[in-house]
Amino acid sequence: MLIRLVYASRSTGTLTPVDVKDIVRSSQRNNAPVGVTGALLLANGIFLQCLEGDHLAVNALYHRILLDGRHRDPAILQFSEIDQRLYGGWSMGLVPMTEATRSLMLRYSPAVGFDPYAMRPRALDALFTELVAQARTLDA
Ligand SMILES: Cc1cc2nc3c(=O)[nH]c(=O)nc-3n(C[C@H](O)[C@H](O)[C@H](O)COP(=O)(O)O)c2cc1C
Repeated sequence: MLIRLVYASRSTGTLTPVDVKDIVRSSQRNNAPVGVTGALLLANGIFLQCLEGDHLAVNALYHRILLDGRHRDPAILQFSEIDQRLYGGWSMGLVPMTEATRSLMLRYSPAVGFDPYAMRPRALDALFTELVAQARTLDA
């Protein structure tokens, strides 16, 4: 069964760009062989990650990620069966924090600052759908 899991967590300490690169690099290395795809955002010290794939593979990965000391306060915001992946082309894409990304986040977030904990599943779907469209435009 294909599912999408979206969770938020808070980074512990100050993560440098090198730390974030390290997370993305190991994600890309580990996710591809188990067929997990997705995207990761980091803003205001909050991670928002979308994981898509077989429900058991995503579950196992999520539980491994929870053990990582680089974040805390994890909260699952969405866990649903899906017909198709949004991020079929990304084993784990880091969403760049551009003006366009910030304005998208504001559009779907009830809070002024980036606060995915306050976002509803439908808004998260809309946000991730638009982020993919934005990335495609950048790639084109
Ligand atoms: C916010 C966050 C998201 C992460 N996402 C993934 C992921 O999608 N896939 C993954 O393999 N590791 C992810 N990690 C890293 C894992 O917790 C762990 O460090 C890594 O899988 C270890 O891989 P390695 O044994 O190959 O070095 C994430 C860590 C954090 C803090």
